[in-house]
Amino acid sequence: MNILVTGGAGFIGSHVTNLLINQGHTVEVLDNLSSGFRENVPPSAKLHIMDVQSPEASALIQEKRYTALVHHAAQMDVRRSVSDPAFDVQVNILGLINLMEAGRKSGLRKVVFASTGGAIYGEPEAGPQSEIHPQQPLSPYGISKLTSEKLLHFYYHEYGIPYVALRYGNVYGPRQNSHGEAGVIAIFSERLLANQPTIIHGDGLQTRDYVYVDDVARANLAALNFNESPTAFNIGTGVETDVVTLHRKLQEALGIHRAAKHGPGKPGEQRRSVLDCTKADDGLSWKPEVSLHEGIQRTADWFASQKIGD
Ligand SMILES: NC(=O)c1ccc[n+]([C@@H]2O[C@H](COP(=O)([O-])OP(=O)(O)OC[C@H]3O[C@@H](n4cnc5c(N)ncnc54)[C@H](O)[C@@H]3O)[C@@H](O)[C@H]2O)c1
Repeated sequence: MNILVTGGAGFIGSHVTNLLINQGHTVEVLDNLSSGFRENVPPSAKLHIMDVQSPEASALIQEKRYTALVHHAAQMDVRRSVSDPAFDVQVNILGLINLMEAGRKSGLRKVVFASTGGAIYGEPEAGPQSEIHPQQPLSPYGISKLTSEKLLHFYYHEYGIPYVALRYGNVYGPRQNSHGEAGVIAIFSERLLANQPTIIHGDGLQTRDYVYVDDVARANLAALNFNESPTAFNIGTGVETDVVTLHRKLQEALGIHRAAKHGPGKPGEQRRSVLDCTKADDGLSWKPEVSLHEGIQRTADWFASQKIGD
């Protein structure tokens, strides 16, 4: 396949790009480098530095006539989406429309979309959330991801372009950016290694479903090969982990034992999130393969190696 990965210079997109290239696909990357890095893009993938909203992005898609679009570029800062909802809509919704309008005019045959499990479902009603859990996003970010899924359904219905939405849990692993609000494992790793204090917001018993980036990349590959009716799949582990436990596991993995400080809780922060991923097992034959223990060790080793390379 001839594939365009947007956001391919970022954390998840670059792992997806690597895997697709290793599988023999031709891959190009579109990224404005706002939070991604040129170095993350493998040399065999051509990098187009442009914004998803731009006329240049539209022209590129129409000229190259990609078979598939793997869409990871996004405004993904939940807090920024609250303080500047218009920017979130511009990047996440108008950006997607720009790409899809170009794609529908140029024979696009498949879309894989990086959606979110946590932010779409909102505060869980009970147990792990499956794809049919009520959708009550609490932020413009969650709303824009859900709207994007609906827009993709429109492009399927109207123009016959199939899609798969992958609703990720909290993705972690090498190359995660520690700047900003997301990526608690990256943030703790860098601070522990730099001998700086680590702050846990509130009591630290808020939970998330942490899924390793290699497993997420495999889910993208499975989604590209999925030929049934367009749908959404949760991509997580079904394991609920709180921040205090995460901090302890990271200390063990890094061999650095320094207690975290507790700061004020974040107002409005979701308390719990864990995903039921049975549907991905059934539909994509996908299951996570990397345990939290193993994934944290690999991530800690990577951050430690970056530190040595400073
Ligand atoms: N990291 C997670 O835990 C997580 C969870 C759920 C969903 N997601 C989704 O996965 C995708 C990738 O996230 P990530 O963690 O790799 O973040 P990231 O910041 O590392 O990657 C995003 C990439 O998109 C690029 N980008 C941003 N705005 C752009 C624009 N307007 N035009 C072109 N490129 C632009 C950035 O430069 C960056 O390379 C996002 O869509 C995010 O919403 C991530």
